[in-house]
Amino acid sequence: MTTLTPVLSAHWDEKDSFTMAGYKRHDGYKAAEKALKMEPDAVIQLIKDSGLRGRGGAGFPTGMKWGFIPQGDNKDHYLVVNADESEPGTCKDMPLLLANPHVLVEGMIIASYAIRAKYAFVYVRGEVTHVVRRVQQAIQDAYAAGYLGKNIFGSGVDLELVLHVGAGAYICGEETALLDSLEGFRGQPRLRPPFPAIAGLYARPTVVNNVESISSVPSIINRGAEWFSSMGTEKSKGMTIYSLSGHVTNPGQIEAPLGITLRELLDLAGGVREGHQLKFWTPGGSSTPIFTAAQLDTPLDYEGVAAAGSMLGTKALQIFDETTCVVRAVLRWSEFYKHESCGKCTPCREGTYWLVQILRDLENGKGSEADLAKLLDLCENILGRAFCALGDGATSPITSSIKHFRDEYIAHFTHGGCPFDPYASTLFASAKAGA
Ligand SMILES: Cc1cc2nc3c(=O)[nH]c(=O)nc-3n(C[C@H](O)[C@H](O)[C@H](O)COP(=O)(O)O)c2cc1C
Ligand code: SF4
Repeated sequence: MTTLTPVLSAHWDEKDSFTMAGYKRHDGYKAAEKALKMEPDAVIQLIKDSGLRGRGGAGFPTGMKWGFIPQGDNKDHYLVVNADESEPGTCKDMPLLLANPHVLVEGMIIASYAIRAKYAFVYVRGEVTHVVRRVQQAIQDAYAAGYLGKNIFGSGVDLELVLHVGAGAYICGEETALLDSLEGFRGQPRLRPPFPAIAGLYARPTVVNNVESISSVPSIINRGAEWFSSMGTEKSKGMTIYSLSGHVTNPGQIEAPLGITLRELLDLAGGVREGHQLKFWTPGGSSTPIFTAAQLDTPLDYEGVAAAGSMLGTKALQIFDETTCVVRAVLRWSEFYKHESCGKCTPCREGTYWLVQILRDLENGKGSEADLAKLLDLCENILGRAFCALGDGATSPITSSIKHFRDEYIAHFTHGGCPFDPYASTLFASAKAGA
């Protein structure tokens, strides 16, 4: 499979792709006009039929999530778009919003109509000021055009759309922490149940969806469920944006059908940087277990990656060549998780602290086999016992790297320091074998 399927990214190269005029040149807002003439339930059914699954990490079916919102309950319903994108390596939602914010606005009009929401929110990560400006402008332009506000498209449907800028915390991407933050509280995950579909924002039925999930909706309305489900694999339908970063010749976003392999994506991106070989990579960001060259032909869909022992996550493919010290890379990720731990639960708050202490020692050549055992023991005590998936994610790079590169960890304490010379092509046996 080498076919590219640019839909979301089709016009990113046009100089006015982010403007109302640029979007309308390619049938922008036609899908919203069409959807508002359908029954809301028919819109939900169409999205169910398409097989679209959430692009924020867990891959939950989008139409089914919309269908969970109770109808006829006389309560306000809310749509919240998760634009917090902070997972190390993940860079798909921000480029999408920068290049085409209107596709998100249009998707939000359709989704809000389907779930009968009169208020919708975009929660955007705090640091990305340039993205915030683009989205704000798009919202203003949509209001001016009559696509937001009262009686949109003359259909009798109302929608108010609010942009909320976070303060830059990874945990606020977790949907319930996001809702707390949006309500003005400290962003910490909530106990579930109740799930957001029953008691979400302001304790009202709420759908939380990722930017890419909602942005995929207008093309499905325009071209149909069959068109969408003709792409991808049996259970993972459609096109999606993969982000490639690190030691790759042409890093960036590649939109392709689900199920493409890293080998194919690397071919499209010019390969691992010249003169170097792949050592390890993440299939879905730093919270997903790492892979080696042995998984180059794994289909990058939800089922394929899970069967190979990891998770598709956010499809953030971080590529590391043989010059990378795996202990150092894992330490950097672990420092991130320790810093971002919200502190609500003990396994993650205390555990991520100790993971960093041990990894720092190991990287500096201090430690022993007993420390490796302690690292694994700590991970075992965090995984499945933390309050939210941040804690689980913090263990993935550690356990998977010890599985693939145990020799390299041992080499650190037998050499009394990092024996890895990044400027020579000194390889450890396990790295060479891609074990
Ligand atoms: C620590 C953490 C951070 C997360 N960050 C994001 C994020 O930045 N964007 C996102 O869409 N989902 C993120 N998620 C997943 C959300 O909780 C949620 O599953 C997602 O927004 C649902 O949207 P979807 O069904 O469209 O995928 C995160 C989850 C966790 C545990
Ligand atoms: S796992 Fe970490 S981030 Fe999640 S609630 Fe516990 S302390 Fe907070």
